[in-house]
Amino acid sequence: MTIKIETERLVLRPLAPENADAHIDMMGDQRIADFLSPDRKIQARSDRWRNFASYLGHWQIRGFGWFSVEMKETGEWVGRVGPWMPEGWPGLECGWAISPDHWGKGYAPEAAIGAINWTFSQFPDLPRIISVIDPDNKNSQGVAKKIGEENSGEIFELWDYKLEVWAAERNVWLEKFGT
Ligand SMILES: CC(C)(COP(=O)(O)OP(=O)(O)OC[C@H]1O[C@@H](n2cnc3c(N)ncnc32)[C@H](O)[C@@H]1OP(=O)(O)O)[C@@H](O)C(=O)NCCC(=O)NCCS
Repeated sequence: MTIKIETERLVLRPLAPENADAHIDMMGDQRIADFLSPDRKIQARSDRWRNFASYLGHWQIRGFGWFSVEMKETGEWVGRVGPWMPEGWPGLECGWAISPDHWGKGYAPEAAIGAINWTFSQFPDLPRIISVIDPDNKNSQGVAKKIGEENSGEIFELWDYKLEVWAAERNVWLEKFGT
């Protein structure tokens, strides 16, 4: 099955082996590590490679996972966005990470809306979508607000982080953003 989601400016496809270098490079930027590394430090390239491999494995195990986000016009890789639920996670999450050169253009919310529509269509009984966000991560909270999520007040502890669970109820979300 070929999965391809198109939004106004972007194309989303399941993260694939050919995205390894772009993804590993993105994770090697301190602005990304600030919120996505266990100790807030850039991980060794070999660790970032293993991390990437686990994302491909997530697709194999779950049948869903991160999407590669590319610009429609140029094909340039800009990041990864999409559904994610490793074991122990507090729910089915839509996450996002955009290469810092491309921040501030609304790519994360645009891709997330496409990815969440796809996710709700795949899981007709899914009651809500969540995003787990560090209380200091204002950029990510900005994305959550733009896609209709609210801070649920729930806390998810991961590594030394106390992450806030943002969430949107299925029916409310689909009424606003559903295609
Ligand atoms: C969070 C993230 C995905 C947002 O992606 P994005 O495509 O830039 O999203 P937006 O364009 O909607 O911008 C979100 C906010 O980032 C802020 N921002 C940060 N850097 C910016 C820049 N260089 N230019 C403009 N805005 C910037 C803006 O204030 C914006 O909020 P606003 O639109 O309410 O003013 C991106 O910052 C990122 O990858 N961060 C590191 C990884 C991460 O934290 N992931 C989420 C973990 S929960």
